[in-house]
Amino acid sequence: MTEKLNKESISEAVAGLPIPQIVYFEETDSTNEQALRLAANQAEEFTLVIAERQSAGRGRLGRHWVTMEGTSLAFTIVLKPAPAEIPHLSIFSLLGGLATCQAIHSTYGICAQVKWPNDVLLDGMKTAGILAESCWQNEQLSDLVLGIGINVLAGSVPPAKEMLFPATCVQTHCSQPVERLVLLRAVLEKIIGLRGSILESSFIEKYSRHMAFIGQSVKLDSNSGEAVIGELVGVDQDGRVILRDENGEEKSSPIGDLHLRPQDVSDLD
Ligand code: BTN
Repeated sequence: MTEKLNKESISEAVAGLPIPQIVYFEETDSTNEQALRLAANQAEEFTLVIAERQSAGRGRLGRHWVTMEGTSLAFTIVLKPAPAEIPHLSIFSLLGGLATCQAIHSTYGICAQVKWPNDVLLDGMKTAGILAESCWQNEQLSDLVLGIGINVLAGSVPPAKEMLFPATCVQTHCSQPVERLVLLRAVLEKIIGLRGSILESSFIEKYSRHMAFIGQSVKLDSNSGEAVIGELVGVDQDGRVILRDENGEEKSSPIGDLHLRPQDVSDLD
């Protein structure tokens, strides 16, 4: 376990970045929840909410997210989608995954991959998860909060029985010491750097370069309980995953949980 985070050390770590406000909690329910509250009260783009502990950390698809004190990062950034971006909201959730992969690579030289839409993997094991949630005012989308949880140091990985997918932490894959605040700054730099290009084809090209399981047989569980099997082709300009079925037909989906299909199990046949 490293030193506890505090407002001063966080401010120092992100100095020079265009972050208008930093809200630090030693413990809160969920940094996404706090960021949604701030967003509803006019918080500006790139407002940062960060916590050492979360008592009700949220994951995708209604799951719980565990944040281990002293060894993890749990933070949320407020984003304000422009009118032209509102029809393409799924892209925002890819932003967190791509920024985290790029930050790990540029800081520690190790290749992280993103399991669509935004689980960050190291050697096929999950090291970070991202949850994008939106804030509505008068039936109009006003803000989007992008929450990122990273298992950074040994001790951050929850017990295997609590995990749906094998998990790891960044330090396990690095020979040099990993510092939480160095990684925090790198992720924020990448988010800020990529933010203006999310509707450009270059953004999807960069995302696709980091995508895990391309060309492999995968199973996509939709939240309606339906599963689709096919070869993973990539993502379209709206961030929907594209699978090619056995007849060569391509289908895209905006939501779901992707799994590498085990070679020896024909669970849908
Ligand atoms: C997932 O993999 O299911 C997404 C996990 C997202 C966790 C982060 S931790 C910071 C932010 N606050 C939350 O309550 N959730 C996100």
